[in-house]
Amino acid sequence: MVASTSPGSSGEREGWSSRTAFILAAIGSAVGLGNLVRFPAEAGANGGGAFVLFYILCIVLIGLPVLLSETLIGRHGQAAAPESYRKMALESGASKQWEFVASLGVLSAFLVLSFYCVLGGWVLYYVGTFAADLVSSGVTGPAFAGSSFEQVEALFPAMISNGPVTVALNIGFLLITLYFVSRGVSGGIEKVAVYLMPIFFILLVAITVYGAFGGAMGETVSYLFTFEPAKLSADVMLAAIGQAFFSLSLGVAGMVTYGAYVSRETNLAKTSGIIVAADTSVALIAGLCIFPIVFAAGLAPNGGLGLMFQTLPHAFQDIPGGALIGLAFFVMVAFAALTSSVALMEVPSAWVIDRFKVSRLVATLLVTAGALVLGALSALSMGALSGWHPLGFIPLFEGQGMLDTLDTLTGKLTLPIGALLTSIFVGWIAEKRLIDSENGLEGGLHRLWLFLVRWLCPIALAAILIFGIFG
Ligand code: TRP
Repeated sequence: MVASTSPGSSGEREGWSSRTAFILAAIGSAVGLGNLVRFPAEAGANGGGAFVLFYILCIVLIGLPVLLSETLIGRHGQAAAPESYRKMALESGASKQWEFVASLGVLSAFLVLSFYCVLGGWVLYYVGTFAADLVSSGVTGPAFAGSSFEQVEALFPAMISNGPVTVALNIGFLLITLYFVSRGVSGGIEKVAVYLMPIFFILLVAITVYGAFGGAMGETVSYLFTFEPAKLSADVMLAAIGQAFFSLSLGVAGMVTYGAYVSRETNLAKTSGIIVAADTSVALIAGLCIFPIVFAAGLAPNGGLGLMFQTLPHAFQDIPGGALIGLAFFVMVAFAALTSSVALMEVPSAWVIDRFKVSRLVATLLVTAGALVLGALSALSMGALSGWHPLGFIPLFEGQGMLDTLDTLTGKLTLPIGALLTSIFVGWIAEKRLIDSENGLEGGLHRLWLFLVRWLCPIALAAILIFGIFG
């Protein structure tokens, strides 16, 4: 199928070339730095087990029903997100103002894109560092043969505080994203996902299995999966729900946008299940990959972003062939990040195409330019602008630079709010006939899903938001 301009524009509509392509692209969107960097960081910062088990609960009871809701709105609307919400609202006799949910999503996706590409730039830095190291360490040698653990650790703070380097890498990562999004759905986005996600998965599992022999696996399992109810505060719950949405790419109408390219024949309930299973396994495997190294080295689990960028490289220092394996790993992380950044850029781009009737190229260039400006502020917030706390006067954002501010603003506010409104929309506003014909569910499962979307999702989300913000 030829990629044309956009969903909703007249003429030939573009779409995924197959059901598998959609599933892999959606998994590609979901699996990314959220699983590899953010999940271990959040799990460590929030005390392990309580967070992880509540996270899994959120994924199954809230994430999965909302994912199905988003994709079905998209497939029904067959258009960019706001248009899809409007269409379903109008056909249900409701106000077309519901498209506001998607507009909020477009804005959140843009904000996430801006700082996501900063992290993507960091990954590129490690790709470069490992590549350079490979030349000196050789194919069979361990990584950073001549350096101590402390020296490898020191690479990270040195990099994030170096403004020109992080801004340049941010621009680099944005331009790569731009390249794929400007080529359209089946020509660009799909190709990355179909070829690279399977390779990435195999490599991640291989490194985890290797680590299981050398690292502190027992300690890791008890850290990640021991449920201590006392640790389950409102903060932890808000962090877990935010992570669930971030990881599944929900709450920004992103899956509405991808759903719009799905054919009629695809069973959305099944595909949602597959996407959720894949995304959650990758997050858990990432945890099982990283924490054994942390504990074996006697480090604290709350190392935040450093877990991925400081602790993991340490593992490659111990492995014969670590220089090569480390390089391969970070290349794969870069690709996983790319399939997500591509999904993030697609949301505002599809909106610009529909709204202003410009070409895909013009739209993606505009979005890139905007993300670049905001991204540069985030990139510098770890160095030159580290003293600037844009929303520091609000307790939730206290002491946070631009990057952390945008992360909190989206993860803890706009994503859960977007999901809350979507569940209300699908559960209460949209006409049942439209929903029933799209969701691919029958009998008891259908009733269960409806119950979750109508009752559990809105109530749980509202409660978590209120307690998390004011509690
Ligand atoms: N889910 C991706 C990750 O875990 C990031 C991402 C893609 C995303 N699209 C999104 C996050 C939409 C929030 C909203 O890396």
